[in-house]
Amino acid sequence: DAATAPAPVAAVSQYACQRRTTTENNNKIFTDAFEVLAEFYEFNEVEGPCLAFRRAASVLKSLAWSVRRLGATEGLPCLGERSKSVMEEILQSGRSFEVEKILSDERYQTLKLFTSVFGVGPKTAEKWYRRGLRSFSDILAEPSIHLNRMQQSGFRHYGDISRAVSRAEARALGNIIDEAVRAITADGAAALTGGFRRGKEFGHDVDFIVTTPEVGREDRLLTDIIESLKQQGILLYCDYQASTFDQSKLPSHKFEAMDHFAKCFLILRLDCSRVDGGLNSVEGDSRGWRAVRVDLVSPPVDRYAFTLLGWTGSRQFERDLRRFARSERRMLLDNHALYDKTKKEFLAATTEEDIFAHLGLEYIEPWQRNA
Ligand code: CTP
Ligand code: MN
Ligand code: MN
Ligand code: MN
Repeated sequence: DAATAPAPVAAVSQYACQRRTTTENNNKIFTDAFEVLAEFYEFNEVEGPCLAFRRAASVLKSLAWSVRRLGATEGLPCLGERSKSVMEEILQSGRSFEVEKILSDERYQTLKLFTSVFGVGPKTAEKWYRRGLRSFSDILAEPSIHLNRMQQSGFRHYGDISRAVSRAEARALGNIIDEAVRAITADGAAALTGGFRRGKEFGHDVDFIVTTPEVGREDRLLTDIIESLKQQGILLYCDYQASTFDQSKLPSHKFEAMDHFAKCFLILRLDCSRVDGGLNSVEGDSRGWRAVRVDLVSPPVDRYAFTLLGWTGSRQFERDLRRFARSERRMLLDNHALYDKTKKEFLAATTEEDIFAHLGLEYIEPWQRNA
């Protein structure tokens, strides 16, 4: 049960990377509302308010107490007039008129539905919406629409991959990837990253970093793993992207640039017999298997720590790490490297702790990065 007395609010940083945020969210009624508002602005490509609501939600998630009256938020960073008025409304009536209006809006509902398909982003969803399409059957019945391979798989496995992945299922997939790596090279390794590394009980996919101590062999490692999964008959979909990594390039200025390492976005067939306690789906259990989304990334081993930090997330935590590095330290950070603009040099790291130390930040454990 959360304490109601506010902690000294002056201690809360505007940067998620200076806060400890576990999976326990004491302010879900507010953060759920902010997430809807942020998504609404994201669909309308209005970046300012979108980011503002995401930052506000992130601050509330870090609190060890529940906000019971607006006065308690005094001194907290990132809570603007708009966020506060939404909170006020929720405190008074248990709901926000603005949020309810969005939730019942046809455009929002349709974009939300379309973007829930693997391979469909806001741009495509918007295009379909403008053509008058409102449901999956509308899309699938429209002869002039060409679905790419990713979207075809997204529709084919929609039921399975829109269902949450459990920790037991993530563990089973970990064993599968681990076995594949070890069969290829005895000194290779697979490490769980993403939401499950942060201690989440459920995820929308399972993320792994695969490595070999031999620099330059990482591309081959990934294609060999894919071949092994195919041989096992469990590869349902594979989008492989070869490395375009250039070590002389400075880290990206953009907050959310994709990294350049070899990676793949997969859909795997997970058999019930491999999962302790069975699959996280009644339907899947009777069939004996379910489809699961899996992401693999394979950086050169000297970039392992940067990739681990970048892929562990959360997205908000990553955004603020980069913003902190740039604004407070004149450094550039991304999934590949850390660059000091004052010294004009790259700062090497073999562990995540090294990176936090270079940035002059207290180390934040993975399970405290649920910003
Ligand atoms: N990521 C990245 N580059 C990519 C894909 C993902 O840097 N090409 C990072 C994201 O920024 C995120 C982390 O990898 O911090 C995990 O991404 P994702 O699987 O989408 O989210 P999770 O936090 O794992 O949450 P979920 O349970 O929904 O999967
Ligand atoms: Mn994930
Ligand atoms: Mn996600
Ligand atoms: Mn992922």
